[in-house]
Amino acid sequence: MPDTPPTPLHPASLARPLVVRRATAALRGSIRVPGDKSISHRALMFAGLAVGDTRITGLLEGEDVLRTAAAMRALGAEIVRQADDSWHVTGRGIGRLLEPDDVLDMGNSGTAARLLTGLLASHPIVSVMTGDASLRRRPMRRVIDPLGLTGAVFTSRAGGRLPLCIAGCAEPRAISYRLPVASAQVKSAILLAGLNAAGETVVEEPVPTRDHSENMLRHFGAEVSVEADGSGRVIRLRGRPTLQGRDVLVPSDPSSAAFPMVAALLVSGSSIVIEAVGLNPLRTGLIATLIEMGADIVVRNRRVEGGEPVGDLVVNAGPLRGVDVPADRAPSMIDEYPVLAVAAAFATGTTRLRGLDELRVKESDRLASTVALLAGNGVQVTVEGDDMIVIGGGPDARIGGGRVETRMDHRLAMSAVVLGLAASEPVLVDDTGFIETSFPGFVALMNRIGAGIAEQVA
Ligand code: S3P
Repeated sequence: MPDTPPTPLHPASLARPLVVRRATAALRGSIRVPGDKSISHRALMFAGLAVGDTRITGLLEGEDVLRTAAAMRALGAEIVRQADDSWHVTGRGIGRLLEPDDVLDMGNSGTAARLLTGLLASHPIVSVMTGDASLRRRPMRRVIDPLGLTGAVFTSRAGGRLPLCIAGCAEPRAISYRLPVASAQVKSAILLAGLNAAGETVVEEPVPTRDHSENMLRHFGAEVSVEADGSGRVIRLRGRPTLQGRDVLVPSDPSSAAFPMVAALLVSGSSIVIEAVGLNPLRTGLIATLIEMGADIVVRNRRVEGGEPVGDLVVNAGPLRGVDVPADRAPSMIDEYPVLAVAAAFATGTTRLRGLDELRVKESDRLASTVALLAGNGVQVTVEGDDMIVIGGGPDARIGGGRVETRMDHRLAMSAVVLGLAASEPVLVDDTGFIETSFPGFVALMNRIGAGIAEQVA
């Protein structure tokens, strides 16, 4: 086992196409999906800002998180992977990060880029951040605008795109900010900057978004309060706390569990267990929606691990019906729409997914790429404003035969694989390499439960 973090590789250089054929047998068995991506990024960042030592167990060792590890090391944190697969971090303390001596390359990861910007803005250092072609297209204005109010100065490409030069400040101002978009990344960037600001940083969110930053900040010893405010929340952070190194246990990622979950619902006769999945109520919109669609999903052994609710999901195949998914559910399932759209293609009746504007600025324009995934495989799908409407063909829908462009988007690639397992004709996925960003070993894990995906290049 290596005692230093593996070097992140850029998977874009070598496309990995795959032909996925209908599963010939039911999916069966018990699996555990990798650690939560959101929690893994935060664990490395908060540990790097803490005083003393942190041990992280269950860290997602996907490319996105390895980018965060590399960036935190460039800022002076000591990060070492242990022989028992845990990660040991020795933090530098708030306000004590070092100036990186090279460009910080955040690869494909929007979360790494946005959250880290909060840290860089609130230290007296100059840094330059870039990312891969997908990340360089994604909007950074949403963090530049609030962080500019703290006193940091940004120079970006047109439209607020990476590469970005950040001149951070030694004495950032504590700000009060109402989020114009429901985004946990923006909220977290502001809270991270607020850690080094004297006084109280306040973030108002119009709709609650994942609260892993708030939970983990408290775990490391910060004072954070959260109040309901109409349909949203107000989060207050007292600045300049001393964060203390802690043990962190990362639960399995519900956004990764989504793929075997939907595959097991669609492949006839399947019955699987997905163990120890994170069930933070701000992340469980997909499970609620699938259950409304008639899915046979039962949560067993609900418990709290590492401060987050977890449970084992028992998933049995069965028919689904179309539903109307309200826009205010989007933050709790924002990454799950592509695979939900695949489930909807095999449901009986129409599914309307409302309020998907934020999907346009993910790793790909996921509204367009999900529509292309379905339409290219014979599914009737339309977009009306920010809503996607999928006309389900039922469990025996004649779907497939298409070539899917994954557009540097890991979740689109995994959704295409799930579609292929239930389709009547083979599905060609143009590049599965980006799956490594969030779900290393995805195809092998699916094959362990019987997916029978031939791993040879098409
Ligand atoms: C994330 C928040 C979401 C989500 C992303 C992870 C996070 O993005 O899509 O995969 O860890 O905070 P937004 O906050 O931009 O919606």
